[in-house]
Amino acid sequence: MNRVNALIAGCLMAIVAAQPAFAAVDREKLLTEPGVFGTFAVFKVDDSWWKLDKAARTFAATEVKAVFQKHGDNIITDTYLLRGLMGKADFFVRVHSTEMLHNQNFLVDLMGTRLGKYLANTYTFNGITKKPNYVPSLPDDLKTALKTPPDPGPKPYAIVVPVRKDAEWWLMPQESRNAMMKEHTEATVAYLKTVKRKLYHASGLDDLDFITYFETAKLDEFNNLIIALERVKENRHNKQFGSPTLLGTIRPMDEILEILAR
Ligand code: HEM
Repeated sequence: MNRVNALIAGCLMAIVAAQPAFAAVDREKLLTEPGVFGTFAVFKVDDSWWKLDKAARTFAATEVKAVFQKHGDNIITDTYLLRGLMGKADFFVRVHSTEMLHNQNFLVDLMGTRLGKYLANTYTFNGITKKPNYVPSLPDDLKTALKTPPDPGPKPYAIVVPVRKDAEWWLMPQESRNAMMKEHTEATVAYLKTVKRKLYHASGLDDLDFITYFETAKLDEFNNLIIALERVKENRHNKQFGSPTLLGTIRPMDEILEILAR
């Protein structure tokens, strides 16, 4: 690393260290409330990145950390390593905030870093969280099961499945969709023990209708869950299911940056 880079890296580290330990946004609220915008930004690191010397890659990593810190007042982020499990992508960032603009500002800054110049933004999914549409129509036992899912414990894996429904689904009367979603819930409720889920509505914000997000320690159970869902009638109305499915491990950005600097 030359002296100028070393000096800049020193300043960036000082800025990172000076940030408050807690961001102004409430993580718990953003992860549970309706009306929150979620962006999934998926990146592939260019081959030329790995030809840079280690010092240059370490320096670039410091700059990325500063970008995460800078936006901590407006957004929360979760980071995932895909490298080794997906050919077309190395990592993705899940961004949440109450304004899509905040998600965009963060991602524009991230892409503007030195590391960003080596990143191809392979996919981006945008969605919003909403109050449940179908749960109010479910029988009480299913409602109770959904309300009090047992804590699945540590969940190292994350899976993201984009979904698009067909026109017939949207044209169907509410009662018919209620009946199919009851069947959906009956087939899946047993997996609440091992799979944590989160749903984003994407119609109009993306070429999708839903972004479905899951965390689990048990990929065998997740595989069985998907097979169970493929056997319910609602599945006939999935025009797109995956393509791509993202499978990654949940890792702090520092660890991902350390892997990219190795
Ligand atoms: C633990 C497993 C799961 C449970 C308990 C579960 C349960 C539910 C429930 C209760 C709803 C209705 C939400 C509402 O009221 O708006 C729902 C919606 C949905 N689920 Fe699941 N689900 C599970 C897994 C999955 C999986 C694996 C997928 C696909 C990969 C999936 C795709 C969807 C989609 C796309 C919707 C939205 C449907 C719509 O609003 O038209 N779910 N799920």
